[in-house]
Amino acid sequence: MPALGVNIDHVATVRQARRTIEPDPVWAAVLAELGGADGITLHLREDRRHIQDRDLRLLKQTVQVKLNLEMAAEEEITRIALEVRPDQATLVPEKRQEITTEGGLDVLGNREKVGQCIQRLKDAGIEVSLFVDPDAAQIEASKELGADAVELHTGRYADASTQAEQDREYQALVDAGRVALDVGLLLHMGHGLTYRNVSRIAAIAGVSELNIGHSIVARAIMVGFEQAVREMKALVSAPRS
Ligand code: PXP
Repeated sequence: MPALGVNIDHVATVRQARRTIEPDPVWAAVLAELGGADGITLHLREDRRHIQDRDLRLLKQTVQVKLNLEMAAEEEITRIALEVRPDQATLVPEKRQEITTEGGLDVLGNREKVGQCIQRLKDAGIEVSLFVDPDAAQIEASKELGADAVELHTGRYADASTQAEQDREYQALVDAGRVALDVGLLLHMGHGLTYRNVSRIAAIAGVSELNIGHSIVARAIMVGFEQAVREMKALVSAPRS
């Protein structure tokens, strides 16, 4: 049974829409732990569009389960990671214009940069996972460069528009997962997983961690909306000065 890493980025997205103090991803992390999360995942992007430095620092002090920092292998963010020391760093590609992380990390094409980043993080006692497409060559290169784990990008599986396409992408994840385990890497998966498509992924042999964010935040808004309106209605219905 895989561990559940809850990605809280989009709680911060709502806060940043108003540049205010709520909702606080630090509160969300506490609630996620109460709900059974095995890990808290956050992405400190170079453009700081959602998670802020303050969030990472507070989460390091408050989170009691595994703290997983998604990050680009860039100097500024690497320095912050080395200082804050999350339990795990997941290296992801980052483009400023993208809506979300669009593809896996090109480990093969960036061997030197990625390898140096892995080494620095590992020297600081941080476990390193690389977010890659389900591609044997990228997985083997991840092992060669010293990563502890790969997180296979489940986006193409999640985005499949027909059952046949979903089955094909599922098989690609199963096969790539086998390669990762065979070379001695821990096997994680994530991106685009939802309440509808997660069960098959959780059943893949050897997968030890799933990172899920958007779908959980989306559902939290829906299951919490009615109560939130009731509480505001009660205040509006009982004015006092
Ligand atoms: N794993 C990685 C490496 C990611 O970049 C993301 C998105 O931040 C996720 C998992 C979570 O994806 P989603 O929000 O679609 O569940």
